[in-house]
Amino acid sequence: MSVIRYYPQLATGDGFPKPSVPMLPPLSAAHWLGGKSGASSFLGEATNFTQGRYALLFALEALGVDAESAVLMPAYHCRSLVEPADLLGARVLFVPVNEDLTLRLDLAEGLVASSQFPVKAMVLPHYFGFPQPVVPIERFCQAHSISLIEDCAHAFFGRADGRLLGRIGRFSFASPRKFFPIEDGGILLDNAPVVGAAPRLHRQPLKTEIRALVHGAQSLLRRRPRRRPANPSSGPIMDGLAWPDHHDLDESTDTYDTGLKWLVPHRRRLASTWISRRILNGAALELIVVKRRQFYQRWLTGLSGMSGCRPLFPRLDHETVPYVFPLLIERNPDAVFRALKTQGVPLWRWEDMAVTDCAVSKRYRHGLLQLPCHQALEDDEIEWLTRAVKETLNAFQQGA
Ligand SMILES: Cc1ncc(COP(=O)(O)O)c(C=O)c1O
Repeated sequence: MSVIRYYPQLATGDGFPKPSVPMLPPLSAAHWLGGKSGASSFLGEATNFTQGRYALLFALEALGVDAESAVLMPAYHCRSLVEPADLLGARVLFVPVNEDLTLRLDLAEGLVASSQFPVKAMVLPHYFGFPQPVVPIERFCQAHSISLIEDCAHAFFGRADGRLLGRIGRFSFASPRKFFPIEDGGILLDNAPVVGAAPRLHRQPLKTEIRALVHGAQSLLRRRPRRRPANPSSGPIMDGLAWPDHHDLDESTDTYDTGLKWLVPHRRRLASTWISRRILNGAALELIVVKRRQFYQRWLTGLSGMSGCRPLFPRLDHETVPYVFPLLIERNPDAVFRALKTQGVPLWRWEDMAVTDCAVSKRYRHGLLQLPCHQALEDDEIEWLTRAVKETLNAFQQGA
């Protein structure tokens, strides 16, 4: 059995103010108001685990992945994507990625050819809602008898060349918590079901169900404060300049992490809460699709012409419904990250991914920021967010 080594977290969030604009959509009355139509593979499906990682774990098990087999996964990932395979003791073959996060299939060939164990599955994320080119990947999988698992954690909606995301792989899974104002959920789709092989899930304890209901009610009643544009000459932005950028750890040290951090084995067969399923099924889908696309466009317009950064996907085609706005910071990424966090800008980056030789993933670990574009943002919030990022980057340009 191989041991997967993970990078440590770079910034734990300690010492930063809580973001005043939510990273994920909170519940409000608008959630139910408006057109209900919206194409998604994941609506009306019964198999709703508590998180996407448990749906993936089930799919891997169903495909026979175990300690005597291997799985292909992209080198750029969040740790919760890898942990299901880690739990099963499978050998994970990390496929390097290109700058646009497409997989290096040329290198995947070599990984499969030199694998000591049969490669049973490939996990393919449609990062941030943007579809991967699926045809060459399907061909690759067919040629090597590998089952494709589509990771639609970021792609609840959307199509690739007219085909609904989630219907392409042998299995697919979604993480509705990223698109809907709910606390839990992880939907599994089996695109070639076998009688009797469907997962049997247990209900959540009553205490958890009640807590989820209370949280939903609290979210409905809460009002968010209005946001004001940041002042770029103020302390927090300039303070960021004083922080040195982190460098990769020395491979010879033993500070890497191993084992499970985000996956709790005894939660693997739990169903999502009743209230999450109710909220999900009552959603005004049109609003989600339209607003996310609008706010993504606002980011593109707001940051157009900026130097020191680059939107990872500078075009939004009509088939894409984004999860977040991925922005690549090209200079001083750690300092920019901290300066933004200090101002209360909500943002994430994947810091604790598995250690690989992929140069793009190592760079993106520091520089690829995820900024919100969800449907529950207010107009003044998206205005504040784009200005805060812009003014911070400008301050760094002048200070550099
Ligand atoms: C690309 C990707 N895949 C899978 C997952 C796992 O989804 P969940 O958080 O629902 O377990 C995540 C979530 O963080 C993700 O970003």
